[in-house]
Amino acid sequence: VKAEVTWTNTYTRDCSPNFSENLELARHRWYGFKEGFSSSLVKRAIVDTRQDENTVLSVLDPFSGSGTTPLTALENGCKAQAIEVNPFLSFVGVTKCITKTKTSAYLIEKMNLLLEETPLEISSPLEGVSTFSPGQNKSKWLFNSSVLRGYQSLLEKIEAIENNDDQRVFLLALYTSAMKCCNARKDGKCLRYKKGWELLGYNSSTLREEFVNNCLKMIEDLERVPLLNCEIESSNTDSRTALKEASSNSIDLVVFSPPYLNSFDYSDIYRPELFLANYVGSNEELRVLREKTLRSHVQYSWKQHDIPDSLWVKNIVSLLEKRRENLWDKLIPEMVGSYFYDMESIFRELYRIAKNGSGLWFVVSTSAYAEVEIAVDLILADLATQQGWELMSINALRKLRSSSQSSKGIRLRESLVICRK
Ligand SMILES: C[S@@+](CC[C@H](N)C(=O)[O-])C[C@H]1O[C@@H](n2cnc3c(N)ncnc32)[C@H](O)[C@@H]1O
Repeated sequence: VKAEVTWTNTYTRDCSPNFSENLELARHRWYGFKEGFSSSLVKRAIVDTRQDENTVLSVLDPFSGSGTTPLTALENGCKAQAIEVNPFLSFVGVTKCITKTKTSAYLIEKMNLLLEETPLEISSPLEGVSTFSPGQNKSKWLFNSSVLRGYQSLLEKIEAIENNDDQRVFLLALYTSAMKCCNARKDGKCLRYKKGWELLGYNSSTLREEFVNNCLKMIEDLERVPLLNCEIESSNTDSRTALKEASSNSIDLVVFSPPYLNSFDYSDIYRPELFLANYVGSNEELRVLREKTLRSHVQYSWKQHDIPDSLWVKNIVSLLEKRRENLWDKLIPEMVGSYFYDMESIFRELYRIAKNGSGLWFVVSTSAYAEVEIAVDLILADLATQQGWELMSINALRKLRSSSQSSKGIRLRESLVICRK
């Protein structure tokens, strides 16, 4: 493949790789997910792929994160399929896509009853668990005890709600509120304590205020975007295995952003949510989840390392092996090989399940380790074409700040790659 990046393209205008603009949009704003892309990017992919207004496209995202692709697909009259390995994120994505079945008045009354009938605080199973709460010999903790207790009280009441969709709305409002009352916030690969966090004084009452605001916002959005008669299939699993079971020639458009090759472990950064929402109850369960994630990080000791049959990837891996001593983790060369191996298998299966003429749109950034620049966008485009995809374009969307850990002076970029079957 003659892979070249185009710096002047029309996608920079309406295909932001940044989630932040979604925070202005109904439903998309239900959970602030830093690692997502914009809804407008997905919309452009749909508009460019659709032959005419009456065609109902089947749109798939095999790394659906917080659900930007399936939600945008449904908003634009498409069918949606979503695969996401992280149970918390999968929950967020599905919840953002639910159909409105109740009136706003009904939901508001339900919310008020819920608040009236629950004590302000009850004891929480997370009190005393690692850094979740204050305790002996701890100088920092994520949640004040009052927040955890207020959370538990609302959680138990919401879990008793019988209607699944109503329950989802209130649960997501509660998770969002709890994270707003967390003493730390996400900052790149870590949780960073907020400035003056000891004085912020979050408690069960602040949590309730947040909860009410979030519920009202969500109820308003259900009214604005009811998503009636929508079809969505969502699966909380590893896309490497799930795609193998999908039917051939069934998809019209694939839009996604895979985990980047930057050693960012979603199961680690979303650890508070995974524990709060009871998806994970111990570090062992977290380890089991990590094992199912794409091999884009070194936080898990993978039992097996692989490398695709690509000279390009082999050269990079061998260069990294020579610089092993300078790498911040000795297993980075193996991670790089395995990442491309995993992505190659994803492209293979996507090609099989896509119909002729389908579009494949993905956003990814380049990487660098020990001053070795890895043109992930070009390499993935190359691997996709080896599996049969025809490369249409590789469009740089923005330059990224270089990470001091890996790449003195190397400017990384985030690109949109477009292919066709
Ligand atoms: C860049 S994010 C996708 C964000 C999404 N485009 C959005 O706007 O919300 C990549 C996602 O891939 C998920 N992921 C990692 N390994 C996976 C796997 N093996 N199968 C399915 N999803 C996986 C991560 O949990 C993460 O949510």
